[in-house]
Amino acid sequence: MSLLLAFDDELTLARPLAAALGWPLAVVERHVFPDGESRLRLPAALPPRVALLRGLQRPNERLAELMLVAGGARELGATELTLVAPYLGYMRQDIAFTPGEVVSQRHLGRALAAWFDAVITVDPHLHRVASMAEVVPGRRGVALGAAPLLGRLAAERVPGALLVGPDAESEQWVTVAAEAAGLEHAVCLKQRHGDRDVAVALPAADVAGRAVVLLDDVASTGRTLQAATRGLLERGAASVDVAVTHALFVGDALAELRTAGVRHVWSSDCIAHESNAVSVVPLLAAALRDGAGWAGWGQAGWGQVSQDLTPSRHDPL
Ligand code: R5P
Repeated sequence: MSLLLAFDDELTLARPLAAALGWPLAVVERHVFPDGESRLRLPAALPPRVALLRGLQRPNERLAELMLVAGGARELGATELTLVAPYLGYMRQDIAFTPGEVVSQRHLGRALAAWFDAVITVDPHLHRVASMAEVVPGRRGVALGAAPLLGRLAAERVPGALLVGPDAESEQWVTVAAEAAGLEHAVCLKQRHGDRDVAVALPAADVAGRAVVLLDDVASTGRTLQAATRGLLERGAASVDVAVTHALFVGDALAELRTAGVRHVWSSDCIAHESNAVSVVPLLAAALRDGAGWAGWGQAGWGQVSQDLTPSRHDPL
């Protein structure tokens, strides 16, 4: 017997995921006290296999409750506890860029490894650390890939589009998206001078008259995509559309993209957003259904998951 647990603000994804799995869904009951602490209630008895759906956007707000639910779930009977975090925050700080900076990825990963047996996510921002297995040491880490879905969507909506990654780190996603969609691709170079101060150098590829789809793992302030869009349109691109796995789009991000000349914005439903255009539910369901994350899974099983789901990275322990 298995159970999907979710917070009440995750139901847009939780309901179709539970339906795809044929698993019961239980909602974490939450009361927030006036002083900001949370009282959480789970089903009084849990089956051994529990998957908790909790995206880690706005992680500072969510981590304390995540820790409490994980501890509570263990006490209530869960012995194989998987975190399904379609967006995994804190992955970008993977080294100390200046002396004394805390390497957030490492410490968040260690905390998740202490709380969960497995962590499943989608297109995590892994750069200098190569795999989810390294992020959650001693536990199973699974990185599924939405980039091929976005690539196919781009090919369908903009036949013959040139897929462009806005920075070197996006190459991993643009490459698999282009391959899945049979499109050409190119990658820009980025220099970030501040949260909202980004310079993008365009690739050598001739973009004049081309319909371009910018593809990245995450849009936060949108300034990376904005700078790339401006450059592409100045160089004569016929149109610029945007496709991202994780639609954070904080503050004025969407408005700034429109002002820069972006035509359409598409995203996966890893984070619920008006731009959602492709669903990761089948990927998540297949990973859970096939046993990814459960104790006792051998490496052959992980290989099968990799083949079936064409993840961008595949991380056997
Ligand atoms: C970083 O390399 C990521 O892939 C994104 O390009 C970046 O996080 C986007 O941030 P923003 O939207 O704030 O420019």
